[in-house]
Amino acid sequence: MCGIFAYLGPKTNAPELVIEGLKKLEYRGYDSWGVAAQANNRIDSCKKVGKISAYQVGDHNFAASSLAIGHSRWATHGGVTEANAHPHFNADHSLALVHNGIIENYAEIRADLESKGHKFVSQTDTESIVHLIDFHLKSMSLEEAVKKAMSEMHGRYAILLIKADEQKIIAARRGSPLIIGIGQGEFFVGSDIPAFLEYTNQVNYLDDDQMVIIDQEKAQFYDLKTNSPIEKRLITIEWQASQAEKGDYPHFMIKEIMEQKETIRRALEQDDQEIQKIAEAIKGAFGTYLVGCGTAGKVCLAATYQFSHIGHRHVNFAVGSEFSSLQDFIKDRSLMIAVSQSGETADTLEAIHAAKSKGAKVLSIINVKGSTMDRESDFALHIKAGPEKAVASTKATTAQMAVLTLLAYACAGRLEAGKKLLLDTQSQINDMLNPRYEDHIRTLADQIAKVESMYIIGKGVNYAIALESAIKLQEISYIHAEGFASGELKHGPIALISQSTPVIALISNDQSRKDVLNNCQEVKARGAYVIGIAPENDAVFDFWIKVPDAGEAQGIVNIIPIQLLAYHLGLLRKNDPDMPRNLAKSVTVK
Ligand code: AGP
Repeated sequence: MCGIFAYLGPKTNAPELVIEGLKKLEYRGYDSWGVAAQANNRIDSCKKVGKISAYQVGDHNFAASSLAIGHSRWATHGGVTEANAHPHFNADHSLALVHNGIIENYAEIRADLESKGHKFVSQTDTESIVHLIDFHLKSMSLEEAVKKAMSEMHGRYAILLIKADEQKIIAARRGSPLIIGIGQGEFFVGSDIPAFLEYTNQVNYLDDDQMVIIDQEKAQFYDLKTNSPIEKRLITIEWQASQAEKGDYPHFMIKEIMEQKETIRRALEQDDQEIQKIAEAIKGAFGTYLVGCGTAGKVCLAATYQFSHIGHRHVNFAVGSEFSSLQDFIKDRSLMIAVSQSGETADTLEAIHAAKSKGAKVLSIINVKGSTMDRESDFALHIKAGPEKAVASTKATTAQMAVLTLLAYACAGRLEAGKKLLLDTQSQINDMLNPRYEDHIRTLADQIAKVESMYIIGKGVNYAIALESAIKLQEISYIHAEGFASGELKHGPIALISQSTPVIALISNDQSRKDVLNNCQEVKARGAYVIGIAPENDAVFDFWIKVPDAGEAQGIVNIIPIQLLAYHLGLLRKNDPDMPRNLAKSVTVK
């Protein structure tokens, strides 16, 4: 959450360059933004409410500058106002600071500093950091003041600080991501890699309780706990800058949906021996726990069915934020499988820390190589979906499902059968994602765009996909959508059905089909408009969306029409499909 970007180097348009970088990170937060640039021993700044994508070069008259920091905000403390937008400053504007995270003891820090005469102008937790550094600066160097302030703050943070009369950026981290891009005589700092990928693919990750001081010459890293310098090895990022662009598509969401024509195949490019090793770890573990949040959590739930049905293994599931209440059962022989697109989700990371503190091993299934989860896990499988920038997860979801299905097959000693099934599924998806198919779904979107509520039902793995469908429809269409196990309808939710309520049934060609069709009859008898997503048509459907029969991979194909439906409902309802209200891509706060 919150995008951070900074530049230090020979170019003299640092503020505009930072604004362009922030535009690439806007999916991390988009309620307000701001930039601070150092020029002529002073700090020039610009803060605005709204999306940074609306900014045009020249809207603010920045002086020439080679050093600038910027931030696009997802509000936590304090409303969406210019005063609460970052950067925040000390009293004489000689320090400017941007922050991603939450400072838990900010109220105490603020009260103490106010009693010492500091005047605050915002409601944010962030402003307390810059005042605390300013306070310490009276008796020590800038570096020492930052270190001291960091040692006094509780919570999660990634911060960048500049000073009016020093050509340097100081960055520090605990819990929230920061990556340093090392170019030819120039430096970038971003909370995600795509921000600077067009300039460099050479990076260093800042780890927890580390600080980096970047000047014109070098980036020097320090361990804040031992107060000693550290050396880091440069990491090369394999993504291309063009992969993080929209290309000819109007939105990242539709681009990423269409990329599913090949992302399952890429997800399958795994080392067989590694997959077998992980399957053995699952089989030998004293309890395996799948953990993820939001869509990744639904992928985990879907995988519990796959592990049971295909792999004949019992695996547990918890959403990241609930794991702390279930961790008593974790032992040193347990295994956690953490699933995440970003590899930075705070609730999932907290679950990982809890599991590790009990000696359990952690496998991460992630998209972003080098992310915190990647670095903190014992094993990692990368899903290789390429940058996913739309807030709504699509291609990462199906790629995660493919990798977990593969692992379920490996647990049963049937890895090759799993690969074949998933490669066949890939070619089925390739055929399915054609313009006529999208038109058909657009027709449905037209019909239901004005409804107030809709329900999605499924059984087995399709129950998990029903829950994921609800997330997709909620976040992009803003229509009230809920997913249920179809058999649960008669235990309560059927009371919600009235004339013309859309009910979407997700169906597999297996023994569950008959039950779900019966449940469709039950809602139809109460006036529901039944939409079937199924390999075969049925008289109960008022509208049928055909999907290929993908056998054990049915969950993967069944979510794709829902992604398209959510996208088109979003467009019809004049929502921004890439940046839905109140949300942000990478949820790095608890
Ligand atoms: C997906 O559409 C959502 N925006 C959200 O639920 C997301 O899946 C969740 O925040 C987890 O993110 P992660 O995969 O990066 O951990």
